Amino acid sequence: MQRRSFTCFALAGALFAFLATAEAAETIRQWQFARKGDGLELALRDVAAPTPAAHEVAVRVRAVSLNRRDLMMVAGNYGGGTQPNTVPLSDGAGEVIAVGSAVTRFKVGDRVAGIFFEDWLDGAPTAASLATARGGNSGGMLSEVVVTDAEGLVSIPQHLSYEEAATLPCAGVTAWVGLFKRGGLTRGDFVLLEGTGGVSVFGLQLAAAAGAKPIITSSSDAKLARARELGAFGTVNYRSNPEWQQQVRALTGGAGVDQVLEVGGQDTLPRALQALAFGGHVAIIGGLSGFASDVPVGTLMGLNATASGIYVGSRSDFEALNAFLSEHQIKPIVDKVFEMEDAPAAFAAMDDGEFFGKVVIRL
Ligand SMILES: NC(=O)c1ccc[n+]([C@@H]2O[C@H](COP(=O)([O-])OP(=O)(O)OC[C@H]3O[C@@H](n4cnc5c(N)ncnc54)[C@H](OP(=O)(O)O)[C@@H]3O)[C@@H](O)[C@H]2O)c1
Repeated sequence: MQRRSFTCFALAGALFAFLATAEAAETIRQWQFARKGDGLELALRDVAAPTPAAHEVAVRVRAVSLNRRDLMMVAGNYGGGTQPNTVPLSDGAGEVIAVGSAVTRFKVGDRVAGIFFEDWLDGAPTAASLATARGGNSGGMLSEVVVTDAEGLVSIPQHLSYEEAATLPCAGVTAWVGLFKRGGLTRGDFVLLEGTGGVSVFGLQLAAAAGAKPIITSSSDAKLARARELGAFGTVNYRSNPEWQQQVRALTGGAGVDQVLEVGGQDTLPRALQALAFGGHVAIIGGLSGFASDVPVGTLMGLNATASGIYVGSRSDFEALNAFLSEHQIKPIVDKVFEMEDAPAAFAAMDDGEFFGKVVIRL
C-alpha cells in the first residue's frame, strides 16, 4: 500500500516536472521598454517563444552589449521616439537553435551576431534599410530568443566569446567604417580618438593593429594607462588639459592627425579640427556633448580635409571587420558584465561613465 502511494506520488511529480518544462519551453524572458509617466523604463516580461518562418532563424541570445543610443532611448531623447513594449538593444550574439525551411545561410549550432540594420546588407543604405535598426522600434536583442531574417546575421569570429562578439554590431562596425572604409587609413597615420567609450576603444585597437599611431583622450589618467597597454601612441587628459587639441598636435610633431573618430560632438569637433592635418579625414559619428555642431566649411576647405557622416554600416562592413579581427586576433574590451536580471544596473553602469570599452549583459 505504502509502495503504491509512493509510486503514484513519483508519477505525479514526474508529470508535474514534464508540464513545467513544457510550459517553460513555450515562454521566454525578455526586457521591454515600458511606459512610465511621460517616459520609459525597463520591464522584464515573459512572452511566447518565437518560432522562425521559412526565411528566418531563431537565435538563443547569449550576450548583448550597450551603446549610448540605448540610454538615450530610455531617457526618451533618441530621434524618432521609442515605442513602449519593444525590446531594447541593437547588439547581441548567440547560437542558432532553429532555422526555417528555406534557410541555407546558417544551421543549428552556428555562432552568430545580429547586424545593426537588419536590412542593410551592402552598398549604400536606403531609407527603408535605415528604418530597420535593431533595438527600440525594430526588434532588439535583450531577449533570451530572437527570431530574425537569416540575412540579418553574420558568423562571429572563432576566437571571440559571445560576450566579446556582442560588442561588435554598433561600436565595432562604426569604428571600422570610419577608419578604413571612409577614412582609407594607412600604416603610420596619426589617429585621434576621443574618450575611452565603445567606439573610441575599438578605434584604438583597430588603428594600432593596422600600424597607425592612435592618440586617445580621456578624463581619467587610469583609463589612459589602460589605453597605452592597448597600443596608444599618445594620450591626453582632456579634463586637466582643456586645450587638449594642442597636445594632440604636438604629439604628431606639429603636422596634425590624419584621422579623427569624432564622437564628442559640439564640444570636441572644433578642437579636433584644430588638431587635423592637411588632407585629413574626420568621421562624424557622435554627440556625447550634444549634436548641435555647425559644419566648419572654411576650416574643411582650408585643410583640404574630408568629413564623412557615419551611421554604423552594412552587413558586408561587419564581415570586413570580422575578417580583420580574426587576422589580427583582436579581442574587444569587455569591461563590465551583468546578468540578465540585472539589466537596469547595466544601463546605470553605462550612464555613470565608469567603464572602459564596453558594458555587456549575459543571458
Ligand atoms: N553615428 C553612428 O553610427 C554611431 C555609432 C555608435 C555611436 N555613436 C555615437 O557616438 C558617441 C560615442 O558612442 P559610444 O557608444 O562609444 O559612447 P560611450 O561608450 O558611452 O562613451 C562614453 C565615454 O566617452 C567619453 N566622453 C564623454 N563625453 C566626452 C567629451 N565631451 N569629450 C570626449 N570624450 C567624452 C568618456 O570617456 P572618458 O571616461 O575616457 O573620459 C565616456 O566614458 C555617442 O554620441 C553615440 O551616440 C554613433
